Amino acid sequence: GGAVAFLGEHQAGITTPAQDRLHFVAFDVTTDKRADLVDLLREWTLAAARLTAGHDAGPVGAVNGSPEAPPDDTGEALGLPPSGLTLTVGFGPTLFRDAGGRDRFGIADRKPAALADLPHFRGDALDPATGGGDICVQACAHDPQVAVHAIRNLARIGFGAVSMRWSQLGFGRTSSTSRAQATPRNLFGFKDGTANLKAEDTAALRQHLWVQAGDGPAWMTGGTYLVTRKIRMMIETWDRTSLAEQEAIVGRTKGTGAPLGKRGEFDELNLAATGADGKQVIPADSHVRLAHPDTNGGARLLRRGYNFVDGSDGLGRLGAGLFFMAYQRDPRRQFVPIQTSLARNDAMNEYLRHVSSGLYACPPGVRTADDFWGRALF
Ligand code: HEM
Repeated sequence: GGAVAFLGEHQAGITTPAQDRLHFVAFDVTTDKRADLVDLLREWTLAAARLTAGHDAGPVGAVNGSPEAPPDDTGEALGLPPSGLTLTVGFGPTLFRDAGGRDRFGIADRKPAALADLPHFRGDALDPATGGGDICVQACAHDPQVAVHAIRNLARIGFGAVSMRWSQLGFGRTSSTSRAQATPRNLFGFKDGTANLKAEDTAALRQHLWVQAGDGPAWMTGGTYLVTRKIRMMIETWDRTSLAEQEAIVGRTKGTGAPLGKRGEFDELNLAATGADGKQVIPADSHVRLAHPDTNGGARLLRRGYNFVDGSDGLGRLGAGLFFMAYQRDPRRQFVPIQTSLARNDAMNEYLRHVSSGLYACPPGVRTADDFWGRALF
């Protein structure tokens, strides 16, 4: 139930041990005035600092203000602890130049090259209306009410400057981002996040997660890039697949999560191993082989996804899947090659459909009480 520090060199909610619940939202900026956008980012930062500490969104609070005015907090988190709430912000490519090519806020020359639109991947079935967006906010908490409350209050504060473009709830983490956490399971029933980048791997985080000085525009130093993919999982078809087939598709066992041919979850994958039949123990078209750094020029990701079920799809199936989120230093060298390799050959594709996509530049952390989200960009 405790609070996660809001101020820091990097934003919270990235290497923070993945909380249980997610409410993710993407906004479009409706004002064309740079000053209004900057004011909003200042106001949001103050509110985010309060909310993550377990306070009301505004200084007066849900019930202590004038009876004649709408309260500066909506009230549904009264009495709830901070619940590990983190709020993490990111800026989409369209903030720098909108669909019509306009540089509304005078920041187009500060757009990082790494924020290049993702290419079309084989099999993509993307709905643009539920992807992209000018600004995203990831709210993670151990209590869904706390996460939703935070997003709702940021939207309320942003009224007149931003409109909500799309949003996604996640009910269970599918990744661990710390060695202190047990590995959770995704909706295929497999442990997910075993070979993830973890908070304790500080050298690897410098190499693969945090933007370093000289990588691009200085305002992103200490930041990172987020790729989101809403991936529908055809769980009904998966559930009619044999256990052996499921394990061959993933490349790990379902029980312990050990790589095929090994005993322990954290045993090293041996991509070279062949069985008595001469075949590769970790199959050529298995997910872990194709996603592995050795297959992708050493590329790694910090995965931080969530399970979702958005009701049912009208065809007798659950609208279930994985809201994939991955943080990285440069998507052009990490997500893009890995997803290209997966899209081409992954045996899992038969059971997946990528239905939405997002890409955001997440600035470094807010360092002092008068600093604000993205200050160095403006
Ligand atoms: C590993 C499931 C999509 C990248 C894994 C593992 C599972 C899994 C069960 C093994 C456990 C682990 O090491 O975490 C899924 C499912 C997906 C999905 C169900 C879709 C619904 C993706 C996507 C990417 C990705 C879109 C990136 C483009 C990785 C990576 C690993 C991994 C990098 C670690 C490979 C290694 O180093 O051994 N995934 N995954 N996955 N996945 Fe996925």
